Amino acid sequence: MTTLLYGRPPAVFDPPGDAVQTSPLIPGSTPLESVAEGSVDAVMVYAPPGVLERRYALALALRALKPGGRLDVMAAKDKGGSRLKKELAAFGVEVGESAKAHHRRCVVIRPETLDGLDEAIEAGAPRLVPGLEAWSQPGVFAWDRLDAGTLLLAQVLPPMKGAGIDLGCGYGALATVVLRAPAVTALRLVDLDRRAVEAARKNITDPRASFEWADVRTLEDTGELNFVVSNPPFHDGGAEDKRLGQAFIRKAAGLLKKGGGLWLVANRHLPYEAELNDAFKRVTMVADAGGYKVFEAVK
Ligand SMILES: C[S@@+](CC[C@H](N)C(=O)[O-])C[C@H]1O[C@@H](n2cnc3c(N)ncnc32)[C@H](O)[C@@H]1O
Repeated sequence: MTTLLYGRPPAVFDPPGDAVQTSPLIPGSTPLESVAEGSVDAVMVYAPPGVLERRYALALALRALKPGGRLDVMAAKDKGGSRLKKELAAFGVEVGESAKAHHRRCVVIRPETLDGLDEAIEAGAPRLVPGLEAWSQPGVFAWDRLDAGTLLLAQVLPPMKGAGIDLGCGYGALATVVLRAPAVTALRLVDLDRRAVEAARKNITDPRASFEWADVRTLEDTGELNFVVSNPPFHDGGAEDKRLGQAFIRKAAGLLKKGGGLWLVANRHLPYEAELNDAFKRVTMVADAGGYKVFEAVK
């Protein structure tokens, strides 16, 4: 029996231990896009919050199932859960719904024929975004626009020199600016989101760039880079996000050589100063505008 899992559902939903992971946010997982149509017996999806991204994942999951196979989907009520039943029914399936632990859970047995799969897959697929003139995909951070924090950092960033890294590169907006500097010899682009890394690969063909689908926290502290740029993940500024941003700062220090510099943009309410002052010799706030602050920190 082949079972797929998308994401990490809370333990109360009893996620299968032996399933093949397919989330784009878990490095090394199998892309759902690559699973042969009608080839699996069961899929459990911890549905993502974005509408286009969610319908795309549900359509791919239904496509992967054999007729008679079981789709088990859950989402927090306020993160798409309350819309799940309707969204699934639109694929022409019967949906059993229940509520548990502030989530909605929907179970579907895949019928022979399905409606609207191709449309949902097309609506969530990678594309060249008009106006942005960059490849991106629903679900990627600020997927169809230039983030205001990124823009501020790009505006104040001096030309970098030597070898560097972009921690949490997204579709490559910041890296594109960094690579305009002729003295940059190499730039590693790292992101947890496979879709972002794939988009960045298409957006940046500069031979100085290399791409890694990885969790920044797992990178080796090489202590050999000249510079780090980062617009670290922040979301709504919850405790988890603060810790993630702080981990990015510590990792930046571990990657840099002595005298190397970190250029970081953050939401101005996030408390990064203590972490920066701990890990770096000199910290300067270079800009404070539009709800964001930019720091230069020298190791
Ligand atoms: C605020 S966004 C910035 C994206 C991009 N630099 C830009 O400016 O558009 C943060 C990025 O970090 C990525 N990310 C979140 N957690 C991560 C982790 N643990 N390791 C690597 N990247 C992560 C997200 O997928 C997202 O693309």
